[in-house]
Amino acid sequence: MKGKNCLIFGGSGQIGRHLIRKLTKNDYKVTVVTRNIHQKGHIIKTQGNAGYIDIVESNIFNEAKIKSLFERVDICINLVGILYEKKTSSFKNIHTIFPSLLAKLSKQNNLRHLIHLSALGINEAIDSDYAKSKLEGEKELLKNFPLTTILRPSVVYSTDDNFTTNFMTLLNRLPVFPLYYNGQTKFMPIHSSDLVDIIYNIISKNINSHIIECVGNETLTLKEIIEKLLNLIDKRRILLPVPLFFGKLSAKFFQLFPKPLITEDQLRLLKYNNVVSGKYKTNSDIGFPAKCLFEKEVEKYCYMWREGGQFSKKNVSK
Ligand SMILES: NC(=O)c1ccc[n+]([C@@H]2O[C@H](COP(=O)([O-])OP(=O)(O)OC[C@H]3O[C@@H](n4cnc5c(N)ncnc54)[C@H](OP(=O)(O)O)[C@@H]3O)[C@@H](O)[C@H]2O)c1
Repeated sequence: MKGKNCLIFGGSGQIGRHLIRKLTKNDYKVTVVTRNIHQKGHIIKTQGNAGYIDIVESNIFNEAKIKSLFERVDICINLVGILYEKKTSSFKNIHTIFPSLLAKLSKQNNLRHLIHLSALGINEAIDSDYAKSKLEGEKELLKNFPLTTILRPSVVYSTDDNFTTNFMTLLNRLPVFPLYYNGQTKFMPIHSSDLVDIIYNIISKNINSHIIECVGNETLTLKEIIEKLLNLIDKRRILLPVPLFFGKLSAKFFQLFPKPLITEDQLRLLKYNNVVSGKYKTNSDIGFPAKCLFEKEVEKYCYMWREGGQFSKKNVSK
């Protein structure tokens, strides 16, 4: 099946799972690399029909092993990313060095496409280590494999995200919800299925574009997002603007946890609006505007956070 073999890194994540479903349904064969097949194997292999998915367990920096995988594919998609650093994985390793390795291997093996997931707003967020490492990664990719397509999504949501679902859990439990920067940071949330459609179209229609900003149809402040979620789960909460000093103090405390709610770096990132820059093409410019609307989509899965869970009465005011 020439041109239909995809190698995916980070395929067990939120976007990866949607992508595997989309690609395998459309007759693409995917090889998914994961660090731990025992933890992630069942998540990956249930996303497509038997025969369409190969799972390979590997450290992403095991060059010899990764190299051999490139010999039988035409397309590589990199979805590996982290939001906070750990002793074992730094932003530099994950967002800069690893993409650079992928670009070199893509060039050596003459790949048709290398698609890399970066993030929106990284040019502006000059004091965020996350943003700096993503930007460096983009430079490495374009230097080593100029055919790379870089997608810069705003925040991505779906039923299995770490964004709306985490917020709804917190809003359920906390009587008071803190708002950093008065909740005025703007986002253009894009649904995972819209993002995956963009990736699919780029591959199937053989589109080459260096950087594409991927956004949904609505621009919402963080406060508006929280208010929409509260309305959807039918809860009233006090939204409390937090002075930056306390914000920094709480981030210092939270980042001591293994899965921090917020880190100092994320707080710095939150200072910048996460909206289209006007400097690059967007998904609409290349012909694939987002179809999903935030509130309509979240309404489909928010019931588990309402009183009564799956038995809750529909009570969403428009
Ligand atoms: N979700 C968003 O809102 C959003 C917004 C902008 C940009 N992005 C970017 O889009 C990409 C995919 O996002 P996502 O939300 O699908 O991510 P995700 O759910 O967090 O999944 C990322 C995947 O990366 C792999 N991974 C994580 N840490 C790793 C490490 N230290 N070493 C090797 N592999 C590691 C994991 O695969 P295994 O555990 O199977 O190895 C994981 O499934 C990322 O690059 C992210 O930065 C996401």
